[in-house]
Amino acid sequence: MQEQERATQERDGTDGVFEGIVGRHPSMLAIFEVIRRVAPTDATVLITGESGTGKELVAAALHRLSARAAGRFVPVHCGAIPEDLLESEMFGHERGAFTGAVANRVGRFKLADGGSIFLDEIGEMSPKLQVKLLRVLEDGRFEAVGSVVTQQVDVRVIAATNRSLEQAVSTRHFREDLFYRLRVVPIEMPPLRRRREDIPLLIEAILVQLAARGLPRFTVTNEASELLQRYPWPGNVRELRNVLEQMVVLGRPERVIDASDLPAHLVAPRHLAEAASSMPWQFGPAGIDFYREMEAIEDRIIAQALHLSRGNKKEAARLLRVNRTTLLEKLKRKRAQGSPLAALLGGTPAIDGVPAAIAADATARGALDFAVA
Ligand SMILES: Nc1ncnc2c1ncn2[C@@H]1O[C@H](COP(=O)(O)OP(=O)(O)OP(=O)(O)O)[C@@H](O)[C@H]1O
Ligand SMILES: [Mg+2]
Repeated sequence: MQEQERATQERDGTDGVFEGIVGRHPSMLAIFEVIRRVAPTDATVLITGESGTGKELVAAALHRLSARAAGRFVPVHCGAIPEDLLESEMFGHERGAFTGAVANRVGRFKLADGGSIFLDEIGEMSPKLQVKLLRVLEDGRFEAVGSVVTQQVDVRVIAATNRSLEQAVSTRHFREDLFYRLRVVPIEMPPLRRRREDIPLLIEAILVQLAARGLPRFTVTNEASELLQRYPWPGNVRELRNVLEQMVVLGRPERVIDASDLPAHLVAPRHLAEAASSMPWQFGPAGIDFYREMEAIEDRIIAQALHLSRGNKKEAARLLRVNRTTLLEKLKRKRAQGSPLAALLGGTPAIDGVPAAIAADATARGALDFAVA
């Protein structure tokens, strides 16, 4: 491929990478487009999304593609620092402003002058700092801690959070005016489980990156790749990267990651295994008939509701929290299909009181084990 062509593709994201952000899913292509359009402006951007979805990568890309690229990209992790220290971290302090302030200190906003500041975990910021931030956003002015001198900076603000700021606003932990001021352009990162198609691409990109760091170049078998695509990835891309790195570091001399090498929790989540072991279904080599089994479960729940309501279908429907007509439709269909429940109902349609027969039926009673609150 020609260098120029490759460069164009990288810019367009058509080869699945845009500014180091890997993704080909429509939700990611839409994000690349927003980045491309918004980066050159000075608009404040609020990036939301679960942990490990690439919020910091997006922030850095916004900076690199802006006219401020020659200036600094200054990250501040608001969640990791206690309030007082955070204020001095962001705005600097005068010598003697507080115990331990032995010299003047330049804050992050000043460092980012002419560049971009990335306020990560913004939802953790205290009310006092929220006020101060609002003012910088409005006119670029602030005072260092312990100083009366107002400073002015030219900084583009990019913020990120993995908490719902809407919720923090509704519980008054976050100022509404600041929320709207930050959210001029919102970018929401999808969790990895919503773009599973991108997982093989990410695996490949991460294995290449690890190799570039001097680690052996591994490949992944199809079977392992399928398992990695099925896992829900609560820690998103960061978790995927960590798993692959672990595999490579501890890996086999063959330099292949096979299904049997994967950590057990990826292959069979413990809660699933536990739940499965207490389930009554016998899976033969041909499997089971899922829809018939589901019908059978439905029958048992309905039978119990009818039993508890002494055959009153209106009351049974209430217990099941469905419309009465929904329940009647179901019973009609089951009768037509000759389901075991219909057999219990005795084939005498629409006669309330029939479930007396159910109550009398020992096998049915044995099956009635769903708790109704
Ligand atoms: N789309 C992606 N393509 C390539 N690498 C990614 C992608 N998303 C995340 N990563 C990688 O995953 C790791 C976590 O990404 P990042 O720090 O940007 O996540 P985050 O959303 O800021 O997480 P947190 O909320 O925990 O701070 C980094 O190593 C990053 O390079
Ligand atoms: Mg982050």
